[in-house]
Order: sequence, then C-alpha cells, then structure tokens
Amino acid sequence: MKVLVFAGSTRSGSFNRKLAREVAAMTRERGAEVTHLELGDYNIPMYNADLEASGTPDDVMKLKYVFHEHPAWIVCTPEYNASYPALVKNTLDWLSSPVKSDPVWNDDFRFSRGKVVGVLSASPGALGGLRSQSHLIPLLLNLQCWVVPRTFALGHAGTAFDAQERLADDASRRRVAAVIEQTLWAASRLQSEQTATK
Ligand code: FNR
Repeated sequence: MKVLVFAGSTRSGSFNRKLAREVAAMTRERGAEVTHLELGDYNIPMYNADLEASGTPDDVMKLKYVFHEHPAWIVCTPEYNASYPALVKNTLDWLSSPVKSDPVWNDDFRFSRGKVVGVLSASPGALGGLRSQSHLIPLLLNLQCWVVPRTFALGHAGTAFDAQERLADDASRRRVAAVIEQTLWAASRLQSEQTATK
C-alpha cells in the first residue's frame, strides 16, 4: 500500500512535521510504502483564477501526480484560529483546479477521488488542534475522499516528543496506531473491491 504522509506546516520546528515523521515510521513498520511529503518543497502561489487561466503552475501539476498515485493519505494539521491553515486550503484548492486543456486532468477530483485519509493534528495547546479537524474533514469529503473514523489530536505537543523526536507517551502511540491501521485497512479493502469490479 502506498501511503502519502504530510504536515500542514512548513515551520522549521513544526510539531506537525514531528508527528508526521512518527506516523511515517509507524506506517512503514506496518509494511506500507510511505512517501513523506514536504509541502514547502513545492512552489505553490496563492490561488488566483487569473493564474489558473494562464496555465497551471508546474509544481501544482507535480503535486497532482504525487497525490494521485497514493491510494491513502495521512495528514497532520496545525490549528490556526480554530481551523486548519491557509497552506493546507491553498494546496488542496490548487490541486482541485481542473486543467481545462488536458482531457485527463480536466477533472477537479482526479487527484483525490476515492482516497482513504487519516486525519491527525498537533498543537502546544491542550486540545491538540482538534478544532482544525472539524473543518478539514468536510473539505476532504468534498474532495470525495473516504475519511477514516479514528482521528488523533496531540495536545501539549511541545513536551510530547523525546530526544529522538519519537512520541514519548504509549497512549498517544496507540491512538496514532489506530488511525494508521484504519487507514491501511480501509485503503486495502477499497483497492480489492475496485480490482474485483474491474
Ligand atoms: C495558532 N495556534 C493555535 N493553536 C491552537 O491550538 N488553536 C488555535 O486556534 C491556534 N491559532 C493560531 C493562529 C495562528 C495564526 C498561529 C500562527 C498559530 C498555535 C499553533 O498551534 C502553533 O503555532 C503550532 O506550533 C503550529 O503548528 P506547527 O507549525 O508546530 O506544526
């Protein structure tokens, strides 16, 4: 199973990146092929329909392919003002913009339709960015993703990682594992259904 793991932050000391690294390691331990994507490696401008009309930016096209080729995604999002950051919204908005000149990519949800998605968040606050999830999940559903029911919000993220940047607390690791395992289970079920109906 190919799993795309990414954080909704480009900050150098990002807690969500640390959580995404932990998720990536734990997902690999379960036999999956993991791509840990850094959104900051892609030059994605702020969405503007004029830019779209003059041609989809190269890095948007690259990301469309990356997201498309992974049947499962796991996202670790920060919470900004009780929602998820503009970085995540802007990236997903660009990815859902159809490429009118291309018969294959002239489809808003080609990159996202049928993907199984696990959602986590991390915050230095007590709620762990939980409120970001209640906004991000409807966006993912709009993109025609299957969001798994288990989620995890890592509170007090500033003290949650040990010196090796692994999650220090077993209870947190168990809850992260539940999200990963549901994502892998659902993605393989969907894949085998799709294969069986071809
Ligand atoms: C925040 N932060 C924040 N935290 C939270 O738990 N609830 C919130 O509503 C907000 N709001 C918010 C708004 C803005 C504009 C910023 C910049 C920050 C704090 C946020 O959780 C903290 O900066 C995290 O460290 C961001 O995630 P990364 O970059 O560590 O992954």
